Amino acid sequence: MIIQDLTLKIRKLLSENLGLTLREANIESIFILRHVLRVDHEYLIKNFDKLIKTKKLDKIMRLVLERISHKPLAYIFKEWKFYDMEFYINSNVLIPRQDTELLIDLIIREYNSQKKTDILDLGTGSGVIGIVLGNKFKNSTILLSDISLNATYIAKKNILRHNLKNVSVIQSNWFSKIPKKKFDVIVSNPPYINKSDPHLKDKGLFYEPREALISEQEGYADIIEIIKISPKFLTPSGTLYIEHGYNQHKEVHQLFVDNNFTKIKHNEDLNGIIRVTSGKIKI
Ligand SMILES: C[S@@+](CC[C@H](N)C(=O)[O-])C[C@H]1O[C@@H](n2cnc3c(N)ncnc32)[C@H](O)[C@@H]1O
Repeated sequence: MIIQDLTLKIRKLLSENLGLTLREANIESIFILRHVLRVDHEYLIKNFDKLIKTKKLDKIMRLVLERISHKPLAYIFKEWKFYDMEFYINSNVLIPRQDTELLIDLIIREYNSQKKTDILDLGTGSGVIGIVLGNKFKNSTILLSDISLNATYIAKKNILRHNLKNVSVIQSNWFSKIPKKKFDVIVSNPPYINKSDPHLKDKGLFYEPREALISEQEGYADIIEIIKISPKFLTPSGTLYIEHGYNQHKEVHQLFVDNNFTKIKHNEDLNGIIRVTSGKIKI
């Protein structure tokens, strides 16, 4: 079968079985071909009439079948791109979302990447936030932490993959094992979904670790803990950046106020929805 026919076949299978739009199914079919053939999109366009070898074809169809069972592509490929860097991913960690890139954009905008900045990434999962920052802020030290030992293994693998000497990882229940020192930046994308949220029934989310998604107290328990304890770990001019749900900014704002934060900022994603709140401690 040639590349063009195979792309159309996969597109049809994905849209019929997963309810994707043709556009979404087309993007995913290209992802699958690129992953197995190890080529870029331009190659697929230029070589649309090239015959695909049987072995590769079999592999592609195996992945398509896995995808049809609703398994997300990131878990099928065992890697995913975030902020233009490739990361190892498995089902012990959340698939990094594009929304989370907002946290990185803000920190890059507000801090000089040449200066030394001590950064703590809480609930690091695969390590994406801290590792991208470690790659941008080469003169800084970045500590990643997660309660899940399996997540810390993946984060470690990703630190090694990108050969970053300024990034390290520890297992910790939020601040319990964090060294008693001060950070210039604390950043976190914690679990914040209410356990009764109907979105949790989405078949795609079924594969992701529940403890990376759900938080007690209607989604706020982990956010509360981080906002409460962060002041003890921030330098006088330090900033806490926290990602939260699309409808949580008012409560999060109040939590920042109640915990002595000032210069509280709400930051919108590309759709104009407030997804990150940041603040500095009052001195
Ligand atoms: C929403 S995921 C974010 C993962 C990653 N930072 C990202 O943005 O893709 C939340 C992470 O917080 C971790 N986590 C949950 N409870 C925790 C706790 N009590 N202490 C530390 N990490 C925790 C989960 O294991 C998960 O990796």
